[in-house]
Amino acid sequence: MPGALITFEGGEGAGKSTQLQLLAERLKAMGQSVCLTRQPGGTPHGRRIRELILQPVDDDQLSARAELFLYLADRAQHVDTVIRPALARREMVLCDRYTDSTLAYQGYGRQLDVAELKLLNERATGALQPDLVFWLDLPPELGRQRILGRQALDRLEMEALSFHQRVRAGYATLAAEAPQRWVHIDASQNPEQVSGQIWAVLEQRLLR
Ligand code: TMP
Repeated sequence: MPGALITFEGGEGAGKSTQLQLLAERLKAMGQSVCLTRQPGGTPHGRRIRELILQPVDDDQLSARAELFLYLADRAQHVDTVIRPALARREMVLCDRYTDSTLAYQGYGRQLDVAELKLLNERATGALQPDLVFWLDLPPELGRQRILGRQALDRLEMEALSFHQRVRAGYATLAAEAPQRWVHIDASQNPEQVSGQIWAVLEQRLLR
């Protein structure tokens, strides 16, 4: 089976990590080599960048552009040192967030120019596009309920509900622009239903 880049997108509390874990196990059980990874934070440098982005700092607001370039730096390092080598080994790369998170969060959420962000994503990745994007879609109010009580909220999770609503609407726009690549999943269903749907799509699109 050839390698492929499969990304998982969605708002906070959508259950991406659980689903990625389940999918990785199922693929490995079939004998498929899997690279399960994430952005930001899929490399040692990236983990430091992740902390810089997500930890709130008293008395200092991170500007939207500074935040953007940190995500892009994380992505460039991750593509060069993890994703491309894994694809070269014909592994199935399962990535928790990728370029579309920048379009949804920095583009639609922070309201930076989406066309410019697409170009910057291309520069950061050498134009490496995902083969398939699973969008785990959940109303932000529900997502917030799920993450409350887990741990202290990070800088992005603390954003107003209106920000997260723009992010969700952004995902809907992106999905409509590339329906051949995007798979919309209703993440309010129980985890078994969600993983069943993901598997069915994967079998149909990539495993035949
Ligand atoms: P995570 O907790 O799902 O790993 O994601 C970290 C946060 O970073 C999440 O709130 C989404 C946000 N994010 C962006 O704003 N832009 C990006 O490019 C990426 C990859 C994540």
